[in-house]
Amino acid sequence: MSSAQNPHGATSPGRTGPVWLVGAGPGDPELLTIKAFRCLQQADVVLTDDLVDARLLECLPSRTRVLKVGKRGGCVSTEQRFIHELMIREARSGARVVRLKGGDPFVFGRGGEEVDALREAGLAVEVINGLSAGLAAPASVGVPVTDRRCTPGVAFVTGHNGEHGQQPDWSALARSGLTLVVYMGLTRAGVICRALIDGGLSPQTPAVIVSAAHTPRQRDCFTTLEALPGDIERHGMPSPGLLVIGKVVALSESWRAHVGEAVSRAWEPAA
Ligand SMILES: C[S@@+](CC[C@H](N)C(=O)[O-])C[C@H]1O[C@@H](n2cnc3c(N)ncnc32)[C@H](O)[C@@H]1O
Repeated sequence: MSSAQNPHGATSPGRTGPVWLVGAGPGDPELLTIKAFRCLQQADVVLTDDLVDARLLECLPSRTRVLKVGKRGGCVSTEQRFIHELMIREARSGARVVRLKGGDPFVFGRGGEEVDALREAGLAVEVINGLSAGLAAPASVGVPVTDRRCTPGVAFVTGHNGEHGQQPDWSALARSGLTLVVYMGLTRAGVICRALIDGGLSPQTPAVIVSAAHTPRQRDCFTTLEALPGDIERHGMPSPGLLVIGKVVALSESWRAHVGEAVSRAWEPAA
């Protein structure tokens, strides 16, 4: 953490940055890093995404200003440029700024774009990693994303098409033998699973859908690649949701016990 901190959290005009780009983790506030927690306690202003759990915002000191600048797919969202301008304005006014993002800021979080904008404005930035949903959601249902007994690695990919329609090479991924963790893939699951099967991945490959991991709304559905899109519909798996596809899924006891059946779990905070 920077030595130019003000322990009382007061705004100091003339002081600029660093802006802290902080990962909030997937939901449960206890999954926040200690460093992230310390930054949040010292911030004057927190610019937060929709994905950040409300319980975490409740832990902020009462003097902290919270600005919600969410960007949820399908909803009215804040322009990225406006977020950049707001961060820059607040930091230049001497406020201690935290930009808080769900999961990790550098995993499908536009963290790179925000770092560029801040640096171009002459501001220092410190990135504080968070636990990405792609690691936390599979683990929450007993799935290790790598295991040397069944895969040489893992690929984290987006299910969304890029700005220019570009998408992952599903056929190459199908042949890779990697565990596939698909972010933002719920609405395009039919296309994705078809492309993987066409690319040579067995329709019987174990898969799991994990929704709202580490929140009180957590749900999961163990299935197969072939049945996955239908199971999302049938069980009404809510957003945010992640798809995990690969042999590692079968290492979870729940896959063996409940394949093809949605299992709702009660969220249990750590003791
Ligand atoms: C814009 S990306 C942000 C990812 C985030 N930066 C991270 O590292 O987890 C949003 C996607 O992350 C996944 N996601 C985020 N939080 C999740 C959660 N608690 N449970 C399941 N998936 C989640 C979903 O695929 C969602 O559509």
